Amino acid sequence: MVAGTKCESLVRYALVDCDPGVDDALALTMGFASPIFRYDAVTSVHGNVSARLAYRNARRFVSFLRDHLESSVPDVPVYPGATLALDGSRMSRSESRLIHGPEGMGAMFDDKRRLRRLGRGSSKPAWEVIVEQAASRGSALTIITLGPLTNLALALRRAPGVFSRVKRIVVMGGAARMPGNVTPAAEFNIYCDPLAAKEVFSSGLPVTMVGLDVTRRALLHVDEFEGGGSFRAALRDLIKVYARFSRKRRDAGDITLHDPLALAVAMKPDLVKTVSCRVDVDTSKGIARGMTLVDLRENRGSRVKNPVDVALDLDVKRFLTFFISHLRKYRGWE
Ligand code: RIB
Ligand code: CA
Repeated sequence: MVAGTKCESLVRYALVDCDPGVDDALALTMGFASPIFRYDAVTSVHGNVSARLAYRNARRFVSFLRDHLESSVPDVPVYPGATLALDGSRMSRSESRLIHGPEGMGAMFDDKRRLRRLGRGSSKPAWEVIVEQAASRGSALTIITLGPLTNLALALRRAPGVFSRVKRIVVMGGAARMPGNVTPAAEFNIYCDPLAAKEVFSSGLPVTMVGLDVTRRALLHVDEFEGGGSFRAALRDLIKVYARFSRKRRDAGDITLHDPLALAVAMKPDLVKTVSCRVDVDTSKGIARGMTLVDLRENRGSRVKNPVDVALDLDVKRFLTFFISHLRKYRGWE
């Protein structure tokens, strides 16, 4: 597509920042199978796993997806991101290993045949690419963050001005009206880097928060992954540990699609209902660390400073149908 032509100006670009992670991988699976966005870059960040593993997992998985898609998905490069939170802290990964498996991708790559090749990597850091994409794609760019917000906060610190035209920033993270999933107060992505989240939510940019209020309802039964061909078998292995954790923790036969919902909201915003309000984050080292303080009071006044669109309701059935419809596009799903 020739740059600058009319059709080029209609292209919508997306940059996904992720910490794969099983649900991050499921989000990429859905996104890459859709023409809604063109992906120039994927960036990886510390979170579910170390930054090093997140980078490697993202490259492996992007390459795996390309091998199973009919349409020619470009060899989307992955850029390595932050290894620590802005305050220099590092999360313990003991629980993440129980959820995502020892290396973050469940049992998928236990079958070495799935490791055909590593997708494109780069020595350029994630935050530099996020700045470049914001500057070059401007109002055609949507940024979706599926892990801690460290890379995005670093990019905002380096070049705040270039983000003024960015169409939307969709963040998987936080909770407005329900307990967290790491502590009673905090959701994992925010807890990993509260200061980064505070800087993103108070940036005044067009941010949508897709938090536990809606993602906890995005539940897909594991039976959806039974049968089928080699691609579905690979995803079955990918979710194996995640599903076992759900069974143990919630006595449920389904998995929570936190990250796929965030990306789906970027693709189809009407899947959720949002309210515009101020979101602050507790950056202390106390028991409320990482808590998102969402001001839902009615009498907030018409002018909320630096509002965030917070998702509070979800059309669950429409989302799950949307999600599965994209998995079906892969060779080896059936
Ligand atoms: O709280 C859920 C979030 O934390 C998801 O992004 C999951 O991948 C983990 O990073
Ligand atoms: Ca994630």
